[in-house]
Amino acid sequence: MPAWTESLSVGVPVLDEHHRHLFHLLATLDGMAGGSVGQDAVRSVFDDLNGYIAYHFAEEEAMMARADFPFLELHRHSHQTIAMRVADMSAELSMANVERVIRELHDFLVGWLVHHIEIEDFEYRPFLSGDK
Ligand SMILES: [Fe+2]
Repeated sequence: MPAWTESLSVGVPVLDEHHRHLFHLLATLDGMAGGSVGQDAVRSVFDDLNGYIAYHFAEEEAMMARADFPFLELHRHSHQTIAMRVADMSAELSMANVERVIRELHDFLVGWLVHHIEIEDFEYRPFLSGDK
């Protein structure tokens, strides 16, 4: 399972902290896979995740706007796609498919967290960290 390391730093401490928290939620999910977890426990991680994603994206977008980041609209679109995908998985969750939904969400987050941070978030690094 991937973990946050310095190599994923976007140069803005508060955003690194957000990203670390997202990896923490991923680890929580990992702990749930394969066990006999109830729908309520998984639902609560989904709720945390949906809420935290919305909060994190809004903060990131506000900082990009303040820094006149030129690709804000593109980045915002990518955020919307991610948030919608997580919301869809959340809506799919039912008693019958807890394990499958955990696995799907886990695989999606592994791919997204690293890909989105390394490829897309790194684009704003020079604008937000002040070393343009
Ligand atoms: Fe982002």
